[in-house]
Amino acid sequence: TATFTLICVCSCSPAVLSAATVTTVQQRKLHHAVVPKGKGGRSSSSGIAATVFGATGFVGRYVVNRLGRIGSQIIVPHRCDQYDVMYLRPMGDLGQIIFMEWDPRNKDSIKRALEHSNVVINLVGREWETRNYPFEDTFVTIPQQIAKATREAGITKLVHMSHLNADIRSQSKYLRNKAVGETAVRDEFPDAIIMKPAEIFGREDKFLNYYANMRWFGNAIPLMGMGKNTVKQPVYVVDVAKAIINAIRDPDANGKTYALVGPNRYLLHDLVEYIYGVAHRPFVAYPMPRVLYHLAARAFSMSPFDPWTSPDKVDRVRISLMSLLYMKYPGLPGLEDLGITPSTIEQRAIEILRRHRRFRYLETQLDETKPAKTVNY
Ligand SMILES: NC(=O)c1ccc[n+]([C@@H]2O[C@H](COP(=O)([O-])OP(=O)(O)OC[C@H]3O[C@@H](n4cnc5c(N)ncnc54)[C@H](OP(=O)(O)O)[C@@H]3O)[C@@H](O)[C@H]2O)c1
Repeated sequence: TATFTLICVCSCSPAVLSAATVTTVQQRKLHHAVVPKGKGGRSSSSGIAATVFGATGFVGRYVVNRLGRIGSQIIVPHRCDQYDVMYLRPMGDLGQIIFMEWDPRNKDSIKRALEHSNVVINLVGREWETRNYPFEDTFVTIPQQIAKATREAGITKLVHMSHLNADIRSQSKYLRNKAVGETAVRDEFPDAIIMKPAEIFGREDKFLNYYANMRWFGNAIPLMGMGKNTVKQPVYVVDVAKAIINAIRDPDANGKTYALVGPNRYLLHDLVEYIYGVAHRPFVAYPMPRVLYHLAARAFSMSPFDPWTSPDKVDRVRISLMSLLYMKYPGLPGLEDLGITPSTIEQRAIEILRRHRRFRYLETQLDETKPAKTVNY
């Protein structure tokens, strides 16, 4: 919008020019920094001024990093102490990353967060419900308010993160609300770009690290149905971040829904065996009934700190069990359509799992670990 306005402005008379400039400034408060210039590095200008809601999370830091390295302005709405998000500051050029406090229940604060942007990315999410924020708020109301504010501000690019298994009939409340949230965002903002990633892996993930951390409870790893009925197709976090940036830059992406998955499908059992192989730790799996898993998860979810797991997370694992029966890989465009070759787990596992090794195995070569078996269904 900014480029278009400025091109029009340049070919007009001085009187029209000043009027148009004033209109632009007053309506959208667009800064000259959103005009693309330079060679594409962090000190150039990509023309993107993006508000990234949920930038303080796992995926958020990778998205901010990819935006910063191409020279974008990034507005980071946060609700924590600002010193807790200072690790994001070096990801962009001087003055290009702007922090501001926001309250998702305050519509004005959402409006303020995006009034200078031409792109909005919503990564807000939580694996568990809190007393203040049930899943309905996190996955439906907040995305809906963000979509509404984005439309009202006249911004044309909105990226919304959903989940590959989002389904209104799902047993998981998280996934049911993700599905409702997708529809709510589409209704408010039909041109929204919806990303549906499978489980995301990366250094700070709650997937590979989750299974690797099960060693805290002894050498035997509980898996429902021994993980032999669960199919996973995890995607690398950097690929997800690249997909978001490429979708922002692709004018044809508006209004599309993308399914982001990795190149290989694995049985959960084989995947966890591989995780323990890379971590150079013994792998002994045993089947745990869902009821017991649920009981244990309920105890964890009572923790006053961030719960390690929750009954809903257990249900989400069960959902993927069922998804084997009607594997609903949605046939949507994916990473390849955005020009990205997805990374395999084997390429990236060591950077995530090295820290789970015992000291004496820290430097051991990866090629001693047999890659996990893949499946075709
Ligand atoms: N990670 C995966 O495997 C995966 C897979 C599929 C889809 N997704 C989706 O991708 C998105 C990002 O995931 P993630 O793993 O990066 O999540 P995350 O690490 O849990 O980060 C979530 C972000 O949302 C913010 N947030 C949560 N509740 C909030 C609230 N009530 N008000 C304001 N901010 C709130 C958090 O802010 P604070 O730091 O202040 O808490 C944080 O910045 C989520 O929508 C998630 O559902 C993730």
